Amino acid sequence: MPESLVTICYVIASALFILSLGGLSHPKTARRGNLLGLTGMGLALLAATASDHVTGYALLGAILLPAAAAGWVLARRVKMTQMPQLVAILHSFVGAAAVLVALALHLAPGTRLEGIEGTIHEIEVFVAVCIGSVTFTGSLIAFGKLHGIITGAPLLLPARHVINIVLLMAVIWFGTVYVGHETVETGTHALLIATLLTAILGVHLIMAIGGADMPVVVSMLNSYSGWAAAAAGFMLSNDLLIITGALVGSSGAILSYIMCRGMNRSFVAVILGGFGTGEGSVAAASDAEGEVHSVTVQEAAGWIREARSVVVVPGYGMAVAQAQHALARIVDRITKGGTKIRFAIHPVAGRLPGHMNVLLAEANIPYDIVLEMDEINPDLPGTDLVLVIGANDIVNPSAEEDPDSPIAGMPVLEVWNSRRVVVMKRSMASGYAGVGNPLFFRDNTSMLFGDARENVEAILAAL
Ligand code: TAP
Repeated sequence: MPESLVTICYVIASALFILSLGGLSHPKTARRGNLLGLTGMGLALLAATASDHVTGYALLGAILLPAAAAGWVLARRVKMTQMPQLVAILHSFVGAAAVLVALALHLAPGTRLEGIEGTIHEIEVFVAVCIGSVTFTGSLIAFGKLHGIITGAPLLLPARHVINIVLLMAVIWFGTVYVGHETVETGTHALLIATLLTAILGVHLIMAIGGADMPVVVSMLNSYSGWAAAAAGFMLSNDLLIITGALVGSSGAILSYIMCRGMNRSFVAVILGGFGTGEGSVAAASDAEGEVHSVTVQEAAGWIREARSVVVVPGYGMAVAQAQHALARIVDRITKGGTKIRFAIHPVAGRLPGHMNVLLAEANIPYDIVLEMDEINPDLPGTDLVLVIGANDIVNPSAEEDPDSPIAGMPVLEVWNSRRVVVMKRSMASGYAGVGNPLFFRDNTSMLFGDARENVEAILAAL
């Protein structure tokens, strides 16, 4: 394919990616956004494959086909609740790709540029190796934490900030060795040592981050993976890769900022070792205790019937139980009876940004009754009944009341201000952050134990 046609395809693909991001910003247009992104990526792949630079089609096919098949099988098998892990592992691939491309470019014979061009190229290669390597190991650790293979508790080594600074300084020093290296061997050594050091930095940075910070970590690594791709684009002089990487990098950074704002955290504090954790120690989880009032399905259904205003707070447990479809039928039923029912969405409910919105949209729950935390909190004191379905951390009063709590300062849905709260979960177990929840012992809270879907279906039948 002529180079000019490849460029045109790249421009169209870039435009499709931008339109895709625009579409993904609202549930109504998300499907279209996804489709546009898919088309853009397909076009980009075709154009890149058909360009004159690519000749080894047999090798490419031998790599692409099994990889595409593996991706297909994985995407079909993975559960919605496992998406964060999948996203984390995919970020690690981008990081690894950036490192490998950089190493290959460094080792490719006869490609060394001279003068200022050479210096710029070497900086590109070095930066790509560093960002790629941090992204690779950081994402692997994030995957392990999200998948439960590695403990969610932060690993807080003594003087961890000093360790990070020393590692960073050493990387910069090897950077000065690499840029303008005399022989290929010197350059290779500097590059490999920098890869190792940044790999350790990636592990250390993410290990120090506690469970409740993982939403920020995932979006931050998303951003890093974008910058790693952009760095690879600079090395390969591929405009599309630069544009795509910059889009992913900046949207990931914006998402991280939104997440931090939603959780009342400083972005810098999170990436430098987590929050709610003192130097070298882990803040104790609040040991909530007291008397628990449990409620039966019949009683809960009676309260729903009596209530004039109901707010539903969905959380991770609703996603696990897949209770949203039965819930949608309850919404239908009681709305017809004249009860005002709304949904309250916390920015980090579930395990993915927008996790709850996706589930509610899937069950055709109207968007106009789905409200953000800031919109619904002021209305909670005038609400008759709040149904907390498989949510825990996002309704934990200790975030506001206990300064020693690991989630202290995180804004939460203040459900306890309503007249009555029913919490549906299977046990008294804590949520993702591993913190006890005093809400369960409040006088106006009743626990409806059991699987959320079974209980929601039973309530529907009782109604
Ligand atoms: P969690 O605090 O994790 O609580 C979920 C609760 O659901 C659990 O306490 C569990 O209690 C219950 N549950 C699980 N399966 C259930 C089932 N089948 N039926 C009924 N209940 C079930 O969830 P949340 O309140 O949504 O808060 C989200 C947490 O995840 C936050 O800490 C957040 O920082 C973190 N996080 C969020 C994200 C994003 S981007 N949203 C990403 C990573 C981490 P039982 O075991 O007793 O049933």
